[in-house]
Amino acid sequence: MKKVITYGTFDLFHQGHLNILTRAKKLGDYLIVGVTTEHFDEMRGKVNVIDSTLERIENVRKTGLADEIIIEDHEGQKIEDIQKYNIDVFTVGSDWVGTFDYLNNFCKVIYLERTPDISSTMLRKSRFHIINLGIVGTGRMAPRFLEEDKYVSGIHIVCAYNIEEDSGRSFQNKYELPVYYHDYQKFLEHIDAVYIASPNETHYQYAKQALQAGKHVLSENPVGLSKNDVEELYTLAEDKNLVLLEGIKTAYCPGFQQLLNTVQGGKIGEIKDVEACFTRLANPNSRERTDENYGGAFLEYAAYTLLPIFKLFGTRYKEVRIDSILDEKGLDVYTKIQLIYDQGMGTAKCGVGVKSEGQLVVAGTEGYILAESPWWLTKKYVVRYENPDVIEIFEPRFQGDGLRYEISEFASKINGLERNAYKLTKDEILAMSEITEIFMNKRMEQKRNDSIRGDRNRADRC
Ligand code: CTP
Repeated sequence: MKKVITYGTFDLFHQGHLNILTRAKKLGDYLIVGVTTEHFDEMRGKVNVIDSTLERIENVRKTGLADEIIIEDHEGQKIEDIQKYNIDVFTVGSDWVGTFDYLNNFCKVIYLERTPDISSTMLRKSRFHIINLGIVGTGRMAPRFLEEDKYVSGIHIVCAYNIEEDSGRSFQNKYELPVYYHDYQKFLEHIDAVYIASPNETHYQYAKQALQAGKHVLSENPVGLSKNDVEELYTLAEDKNLVLLEGIKTAYCPGFQQLLNTVQGGKIGEIKDVEACFTRLANPNSRERTDENYGGAFLEYAAYTLLPIFKLFGTRYKEVRIDSILDEKGLDVYTKIQLIYDQGMGTAKCGVGVKSEGQLVVAGTEGYILAESPWWLTKKYVVRYENPDVIEIFEPRFQGDGLRYEISEFASKINGLERNAYKLTKDEILAMSEITEIFMNKRMEQKRNDSIRGDRNRADRC
């Protein structure tokens, strides 16, 4: 019996897929079809496959051409499969000519002619309009966004906006992207969606105006500095049927989701304590260290460290306590947020002028999970128990710098694919904004006290 194997994603099953399976079947007596898993596709940079693995398998099955369907979930699997299933012929479409020649050492490799003028990519594009996106702010995040956006089809970056003409102009020259300087409304006219990566205090206004103009919004966090502001933005987005997404990258990283699943699957018993720390020593001249009103550690990293706590304990905490170490300008160089719940407690620590061990520890009644820096990208985590010899290591997939997962989520939501909405909920964002508001009120009170004290000192000197 001559055995043939072929592989594919088979997203939005089309005529090209049917043709290749028909031809592959004719190459032998028994056809095995390998269908990629979502995780494997993401790993290969295909982050916006629409059909689920099960749907894609089902579509291949319905052709009646496959004698056996297997799933492909890792690099290097093809060699394993060829040997395991005793394969005589490996085949794929002619778009892969040359790529799989190395398999000739194991079986015969045949590239079949590809059906012209059809592909899943084309179908995805025709099904969904291309989203024209503009970037607000041309600082550190904008180049990263441009780079990572290449891995997400369906979002096309068309322009940028910056009120600072100098910075905007050099960005325009470097990236050959039109930049608007003064007229935000005009900038909005050219796009369907914005990515807001401007200074913290400007997110809310830019987001509000964009939503009012009927544009979808992906904003760096925090999108607003008070709960009311954030609620207002959500209401606006809901009323206008627009997407509002906060850019907390960790929430969309596949490894972080896997870590949550490991915890929630009961591996470490009942969760009692979640401790998350994220510090990065910022340049003394950076905005984080110099902006007395909107710089500091909390506004930079608190959302990341609060995320695992809210994910694992929920948003209904009983008590919150926020303590900061301030520099001479009154900026928090290190902040610790403690949350008390009925079932346990959480601590979120962040720093821009104090360095600590950046780790996430989830403590349970039967063991604990440790994810070391950079746990916010969650490339690796371990499960440990009382017995120090037992260690389970998890190394989830991770590509690029994590932004592509967030961009992909944004595109899916705009296209009405809500399947990932659980990754970062409105409830969680509102709970974060509640804590942000407490922090900002404390900061303002501190400033008032400092200025009263300053006035008194001046008066004393007089
Ligand atoms: N294929 C083909 N003719 C097409 C499209 C795909 O023969 N017009 C073949 C591919 O060469 C591959 C198999 O079908 O052997 C599965 O391809 P897959 O990557 O799932 O489909 P594409 O339409 O190429 O998907 P995408 O656009 O996402 O790359």
